Amino acid sequence: MPKRVLLCLGVVLVLAGAVAMAQQPDTQYHPGPKLDPAAVARGQKLFITNCSFCHAADATGASGPDLLRSPIVLRDQHGETIGVVVHAGRPGAGGGPSMPAFSSLTESQIGDIAEFLHSRVVAAADRFDYPITGVMTGNAAAGAAYFNGAGKCSTCHTVSDTAPGTMISLAGIAGRFTPPNLLKRIAYPAPARGAIDETAAETVKVTLPSGATVSGVLIHQGEFHVVLRDADGWQRTFTLGPGVQVAVHDPLAFHKQQIGKYSDAELHNLLAYLETLK
Ligand code: HEC
Ligand code: HEC
Repeated sequence: MPKRVLLCLGVVLVLAGAVAMAQQPDTQYHPGPKLDPAAVARGQKLFITNCSFCHAADATGASGPDLLRSPIVLRDQHGETIGVVVHAGRPGAGGGPSMPAFSSLTESQIGDIAEFLHSRVVAAADRFDYPITGVMTGNAAAGAAYFNGAGKCSTCHTVSDTAPGTMISLAGIAGRFTPPNLLKRIAYPAPARGAIDETAAETVKVTLPSGATVSGVLIHQGEFHVVLRDADGWQRTFTLGPGVQVAVHDPLAFHKQQIGKYSDAELHNLLAYLETLK
């Protein structure tokens, strides 16, 4: 393609991107719960005094792990999964450093800490807010190679119209998202918890002491209960206790673990490749 055409394309994409961004309801990006700035500020204070010496003030980890990549944080909505760890502490995997229990922090304080952590995750994802001129610098062939190789994308995705079995087709994906939204989509596919779109929903299998099992879409997982929607559409609540086993499957686990692990070149090349899938 001549340089001039590319330039025009770039301008069109910038405009399309600007329009898509301005019309918030049309953008496909749902980073999770709407953040409350007052709660974020309260949570930041609590985090700095209670948590920062092990997880760093920006939560990216020190002696304790990087919480912006923590599946527990990414899965959390309002403190329900973070709260379990904070209240119980952690023994430290494989003799590694442990985390003390913070039994005196209230639910609402934990909710604020969660809000702060979610704001950090969103800020980290904004790394994907490349200006579009920068976004289009990738190499499609290198992106295809990464997609089918080291990136492992092709283990779950196909780019053809027909997707056999559990494969998810990305055919036409570039027609559905502007480049910045496509980047965000790679970093953060649709929210999983209780999702209507069953492909991306977290599922759970509960095994009762009798050995009977019940499976469905995970609606809520707390310290004491798990709530699911079964195949008939009924919402069912199970009390956790001895002999009750809960196995959660998150189809987006791979995507969540990958957040922040891609190099800029990998992302740009991937995007250039996906852009060919009109
Ligand atoms: C004394 C150091 C220390 C303090 C203080 C601390 N943590 Fe931790 N935290 C750790 C360590 C170490 C782990 C990993 C333990 C393990 O191996 O599972 C951890 C794990 C976690 C996890 C689970 C991460 C995952 O995905 O497995 C969360 C969430 C968490 N901490 C949140 C907090 C919050 C919120 C606070 C403040 C209220 C806090 N931590 C205070 C050391 C600490
Ligand atoms: C372990 C399986 C798995 C792997 C590996 C995987 N994905 Fe996904 N991906 C999913 C699931 C599940 C969805 C959600 C599908 C849905 O919403 O219907 C998804 C969604 C997406 C979407 C959004 C699709 C849409 O229509 O909204 C994009 C883009 C995407 N993945 C790109 C990638 C890329 C690029 C890679 C490699 C770096 C990759 N995926 C690796 C499972 C995977």
